[in-house]
This record gives sequence, C-alpha cells and structure tokens, in this order.
Amino acid sequence: MELKNKNVFITGSSRGIGLAIAHKFASAGANIVLNGRGQISDDVLAEFAGYPIKVVAISGDVSDGTDAKRMVEEAIVALGSVDVLVNNAGITRDKLMLKMTEEDFEQVLKVNLTGAFNMTQAVLKPMTKARQGAIINLSSVVGLTGNVGQANYAASKAGLIGFSKSVAREVAARNIRVNVIAPGFIESDMTDGLPEKIKEASLAQIPMKRFGNTGEVADVALFLARQEYLTGQVITIDGGLTMQ
Ligand SMILES: NC(=O)c1ccc[n+]([C@@H]2O[C@H](COP(=O)([O-])OP(=O)(O)OC[C@H]3O[C@@H](n4cnc5c(N)ncnc54)[C@H](OP(=O)(O)O)[C@@H]3O)[C@@H](O)[C@H]2O)c1
Repeated sequence: MELKNKNVFITGSSRGIGLAIAHKFASAGANIVLNGRGQISDDVLAEFAGYPIKVVAISGDVSDGTDAKRMVEEAIVALGSVDVLVNNAGITRDKLMLKMTEEDFEQVLKVNLTGAFNMTQAVLKPMTKARQGAIINLSSVVGLTGNVGQANYAASKAGLIGFSKSVAREVAARNIRVNVIAPGFIESDMTDGLPEKIKEASLAQIPMKRFGNTGEVADVALFLARQEYLTGQVITIDGGLTMQ
C-alpha cells in the first residue's frame, strides 16, 4: 500500500514502540492518530510538527468496546478513513502462576487481546467498504515460547496470533491484510522496569547480544503495511532469540 496521505491509527502510541511506529508512518507521508488512555502530551505532539501530515490525538481505552468504537468514529470524522490499524497497546502484570490472581489474568487479556478485537471490529466495516486495509497486531516472542511469570501476557500474545490468522482468512478477499509482529526484548518503558538480573539473563540468550530498539520494530510495521501480498504472517524481530 502506498502510504502517502493514508490514515493510520496506532493504539498505545503515546510512547515506546507505538510512538516509534507513528514516526515511521509519518515520515512515509501518512496521517497519524496517536492514542493512549491518558492525554497525548504537548511534547509528543510537538515531535510531529515537522511532518507535512495531519496528526490527531484521540485518547481512550481499547479494552472498552464502546470507547474503541467512539475512537474509530472520531478518527474517521477527522481524517475520512482508517486505512491502517496498528494494535499496539499492551500491558504486563507479571507474576508466577501460583501468585497470579484472576484479576491479573483478566486485565492483561482485556487490554492486549480484547482491545485488539474491539479496535479491529470497529475498523473492519469501513475497511470492507473501501476494499482496502492493513491491520498489524503487536504480539511477542513470549506468545510463541511462553515465559516464566507471564502466563497472562503469553496467553494474550498467543491469542493475538490465532485471532490475526482467523481474521486474515475472513477478510483477505476484500483486500484487507492482517499480520503480526512478535518482538523479542525491545528497550522501552515496559522493559526498563525489569530487574537487572533478568535483563542480564535475557541478554545472554540473545544471539545478537543486544536488545532491539523501537525504531527497528517500527520498520517491520511499515514493511507489513506496504507489502500488498503478505497476510496472516507472524514476523519475529528478536536478535535471533527464537530462531529454529
Ligand atoms: N518492549 C518490549 O520488549 C516488547 C516486546 C514484545 C512485545 N511488545 C509489545 O509491544 C507493544 C508496545 O510495547 P511498549 O514496550 O512500547 O509498551 P509501553 O512503553 O508500556 O507503552 C504502552 C502503550 O500502550 C498504551 N496503553 C496501555 N493500555 C492501554 C489501553 N487500555 N488503551 C489504550 N492504550 C493503552 C500506553 O499509554 P497509556 O499508559 O496512556 O494508556 C502506552 O502508549 C505492547 O503490545 C507490548 O506487549 C513489547
């Protein structure tokens, strides 16, 4: 898909990987919807001042179906369409299974998996009418391999893969493509808070001996949006961590 003047909604783009994805699409000439539960800060908005594009900030909670619908409607009023949806918003509530509460499990599923469902459902009708669209879902290598202390997160990220492949099959004939990015360890707020011991142990497992950066993940998102014959795929970007 040629991205110039297309409209891209990136959930969870107030910081981290989502913000890097927003910059990548903006530099390709696409209009951007920035989103987070909180208000998008003036500093973040100022980062986009130099691009000759429209930038719209729409706050809201993807885990709430009504809010997701409202956000997509607002985006369509502001920009005319949503041509690309990036389901990037995600949270962790890490705990060993024996200590994990039902609430820890449900909260993570609700944002990471139900959130993607809500947003996808809200964009699909207009995309189907337009006979064009790309949906990119942020999973994780943890959804492929599992991880100690992340039964909730891994379940949500594995679920996203099955969800994406199912929707990809349903909408392929309408020229709507659905793909998944499964990053490994990427430097962001989500990983900054991890104990040094865990970071060192993770680094030792990565063949490339470094963590990824948000821009590298954003490059994959741009590639997936552009490639017109690519659907139902999971692209891992993890420095070789899960290579087989
Ligand atoms: N960093 C990694 O190593 C890594 C690895 C694999 C996969 N991933 C995945 O990549 C995605 C981005 O990760 P990140 O590291 O950039 O995370 P992050 O720095 O923690 O940022 C998360 C973003 O999601 C937003 N968000 C959280 N809950 C939301 C909700 N209910 N509705 C709307 N927005 C919400 C946050 O904004 P507010 O707080 O304002 O809501 C923020 O903008 C996540 O899906 C994550 O699971 C990350």
